[in-house]
Amino acid sequence: MNDFVSIAPSVRLGKDVRLSKFINLYGCEIGDETKIGAFVEIQKNATVGKRCKISSHTFVCEGVEIEDNVFIGHSVTFINDSYPRSTTPSGELQSEADWKVEKTLVRKGASIGSGSTILSNLTIGENAIVGAGSVVTRDVPANAIVAGNPAKFLRFITEDKSKAMANPMKVPFLDLVTPHEELEDDLLAVVKKAFSNAGFIGGPMVEEFEREFARFCDANFCVGVNSGTDALRFALMAGGVENGDIVITVPHTFIATTEAISQAGGHLAFVDINEQTYTLDPEKLREYIEKNCDFDTKTGMLIESSSKRKVAAIVPVHLYGQMADMDPIMELATKYNLFVIEDACQAHGAEYFSKKANAWKKAGSTRPRPGEEVLSRHRRLQWPARLHPSRMAVREAWSPRKMERIPPRARSPLS
Ligand SMILES: Cc1ncc(COP(=O)(O)O)c(C=O)c1O
Repeated sequence: MNDFVSIAPSVRLGKDVRLSKFINLYGCEIGDETKIGAFVEIQKNATVGKRCKISSHTFVCEGVEIEDNVFIGHSVTFINDSYPRSTTPSGELQSEADWKVEKTLVRKGASIGSGSTILSNLTIGENAIVGAGSVVTRDVPANAIVAGNPAKFLRFITEDKSKAMANPMKVPFLDLVTPHEELEDDLLAVVKKAFSNAGFIGGPMVEEFEREFARFCDANFCVGVNSGTDALRFALMAGGVENGDIVITVPHTFIATTEAISQAGGHLAFVDINEQTYTLDPEKLREYIEKNCDFDTKTGMLIESSSKRKVAAIVPVHLYGQMADMDPIMELATKYNLFVIEDACQAHGAEYFSKKANAWKKAGSTRPRPGEEVLSRHRRLQWPARLHPSRMAVREAWSPRKMERIPPRARSPLS
């Protein structure tokens, strides 16, 4: 110890460790050739590997393990207690004995940008990069770049840029692995909870999910059903589609959209997509209505001129996380008395001018497998999903015997 550095005798320093002034180390272990900047504090039971760079003003607390070749920027803060309190439940100042240290692991080659905060109980993967100013709240996969508060996955690190250009990376059309890896802990925790109370179909967990998902979508109600197809079908039936009524949708969608319309008894009319957005083109919708239909002002019904069928509903499909152009669609729907069911199976959490998918005037349906849900602002659109016999199918009948009790029109393939 001297005037400028405070290194407790318990510190295990490797070979050629380079220390700046004004540092405070106690009970920790520092590997060979590591460089530690000014005003760094490293607490007991923390370990820092070989050839690391710990920049000035960083705080490495107890419970942190930093492997070799890690870069840590300036003013990085580690945390080892998810629920810190100053006093015990009986009101006394907490002592070390009250402290349960939570661990953090920084794998080799990772870099943590200046001003980041790293919460506990997590691992920053090998060679991962944490952008400056991030707040890391969950595991960071190896070779991933994350940033923000809370830190979000941005992309994986590519090798040398010129090499990457010469050998372009194959980007899969659909990557279902990465998001599941990112959410693995959260998903497994919920699955574990469902295992522990065997509440697989209905029950408090489903009800809680319905409440939370409605809130997430800014909708008033949510009813969990078995599939996106049924969510759409129930919403159409609840809205009042009758046998032979025309339901307008786009041809560029998954087959389930049209399947649900047919199952609800609707007759399909296709209106094309906009080539910029790949979703229902409001101008083409207007054209279809104005050229092919007559609006009866007495009954308030829109009738297709050639078939004399009533046009009942529009199903815009939000695709690839992109919402359809809802304002002009809703304007036409209001003008011609049509109800709108959003197919939001590919757009959970998507927004259109700050308004969420599924939060529009009538109902939306969406699709997080394996339980699905119908969302609505209107109580009326809730009841058929709650009371309809196929709801029973969803809730209790995975056996063909029980399916027999369900009227044919209400049966679904229970995808
Ligand atoms: C646009 C769209 N609508 C509806 C559905 C139907 O969902 P499910 O397969 O759960 O019945 C899907 C499924 O992928 C979809 O992508």
